[in-house]
Parts: sequence; C-alpha cells; structure tokens
Amino acid sequence: MKTAIVTGASSGMGREFVRQIQSLYPDIFEIWVIARREEKLKELPGNPIPLKIYPFDLAKETDQLRYKEELERQRPQISLFIHCAGIGILGRMDQIAPKDQIQEVWLNCEALTAVTLYTLPYMKKGGRIIELVSSAAFAPQPGFGVYAATKAYALSFTRTLRAEMKKRQIFVTAICPGPVNTPFLKEMERVKKRPAWKKIFLADPKKVVKKALRDSRKRKELSVYGIGMKGWYLVSKMIPHKIVLAILSRE
Ligand SMILES: NC(=O)c1ccc[n+]([C@@H]2O[C@H](COP(=O)([O-])OP(=O)(O)OC[C@H]3O[C@@H](n4cnc5c(N)ncnc54)[C@H](OP(=O)(O)O)[C@@H]3O)[C@@H](O)[C@H]2O)c1
Repeated sequence: MKTAIVTGASSGMGREFVRQIQSLYPDIFEIWVIARREEKLKELPGNPIPLKIYPFDLAKETDQLRYKEELERQRPQISLFIHCAGIGILGRMDQIAPKDQIQEVWLNCEALTAVTLYTLPYMKKGGRIIELVSSAAFAPQPGFGVYAATKAYALSFTRTLRAEMKKRQIFVTAICPGPVNTPFLKEMERVKKRPAWKKIFLADPKKVVKKALRDSRKRKELSVYGIGMKGWYLVSKMIPHKIVLAILSRE
C-alpha cells in the first residue's frame, strides 16, 4: 500500500501538492501531511485519499525524532516524498535578526537533511523524492544571502542523493522555481521589499506544482518553471559569480 508524504502541507506549494496528488494518484493509499499549523492541515481535503495529520515543527530536533518514530512504528511503503517546508527572509545579513537567519539554516538545511534521511529506509523501489529548492540556489544573492546559501546546500544535497539512490531505483528531483505566488512572499518581505522587476517572473503555484509532478514522473534531475528562470539558470552557469554578485549588490 503506497503512502505519500508532504511536508509544508499547510500552505502554498505543499498544499497544492496535496490537492494534485488527491486528483492524479488514485493508487496512493494515504497522504501524511506535516507542518506546524494543525488547523490549516485539517482544512485539506480528506478524500478521495485519506490524510494523516502531523503538526510537527521540523526545525526542532524533538519533532524530527517524532517523525522518525512514526515511521518506525508504521513502517509505510513510501512512493512519493515531497519536502516543501522552508522559509526565507529578504534583506542584508546585518539587517535581519541573527536568530531568524539561523532559523532559516535549521529549517532549510538541517530539517531537510534529517527528514529526508529518516524517510529513505521506507522508500519503495520506483519511489520518487521531490525537494523544493529554489532558483536562488543557482548563485549567491546579495540581499537574500542566507536563503540562497541554504538553497545551494539543498540543491547539492538533492543532486547527490539522486546519484546515490539510482541503484535503489528511487528517483530524486530538485524543484527550482523563481518567485511563486504563495504566502512565502509576504513572509519574506518582513525586513525589505522585493525589487519591482522581480514581479514579472511571478508564477502560479498550481502550474509550478503541475510541472514539478510531471518532471518527477519523467525522472528529471531539475524542474525549473518558466522561461525567465531557465534563462537565469543558464546565466548563472555561464557568468562568473563574482560578476553576478557585483550586479546584484547594486540593488
Ligand atoms: N514562493 C516562492 O516564491 C518560492 C520560490 C522558490 C522556492 N520556494 C520554496 O518552496 C517551499 C515552499 O514554499 P511556499 O512558497 O509554498 O511557502 P509557504 O506558503 O509559506 O509554505 C511554507 C510551508 O512550510 C511550513 N513550515 C514553515 N516552517 C516550518 C517548520 N518549522 N516546521 C514545519 N513546517 C514548516 C509552513 O507551515 P506552518 O507555518 O504551518 O509550519 C508552510 O506549510 C519553501 O522551501 C520555499 O523556500 C518558494
């Protein structure tokens, strides 16, 4: 019996993944949904695929271990693991409270590592892992420095995991969108507003998630939504990061 697990399921793209799994994957028997806000998780549709709700704070080791214990107790056969929980704050490193930036590292790097590694023993042959990374992973970004660094970690982690999991026939995809219209954007503007030009790249979460699921089915390494972000990916490969840093530092 196949299980799907979605972290960050209370909002934005995680919530949209749950909705699309509900309508596209009738062979899945249950979906575990994870985030801190239990009331938001309870608003998700519980059919045609039933949900198991876990209100865990994944930035806390105690809750990461509760997740691990649930896996050990229930021993699910996971065919789809989607990790969306993540945060980001715009602003220079000396403008944002250190504790908030450290929290970004805990959630975007440490929690990503912990929950993914705890999940691996339960992944079925042929199963798929989707990690919500970001186009911010492609190059360092002044004004979004800690976030971009955490996502560079996430991208490197995901690519290596993909290479290592090939033997087990588990297929891993990194999702690297640019700005997506979710509550994440409002949260990230707590200290500084986004530059207006970035708004032209704003993507619809339904479309980003649809493409992510399609690219994962095709066993792609990367899923980059939209021509703008595909262009940014190429630029970040071709132009030395010293130049990218100099240009972005002007904002
Ligand atoms: N939106 C964008 O522009 C964009 C672009 C590229 C990449 N991304 C990445 O996409 C992922 C999903 O973002 P989104 O846009 O869907 O944002 P969102 O709507 O803000 O959703 C973030 C999710 O993460 C969960 N979360 C936050 N802190 C958590 C914690 N400590 N423990 C457990 N869950 C936690 C939130 O739930 P609770 O608050 O209930 O815990 C929420 O469900 C993130 O990794 C983000 O970095 C977003």
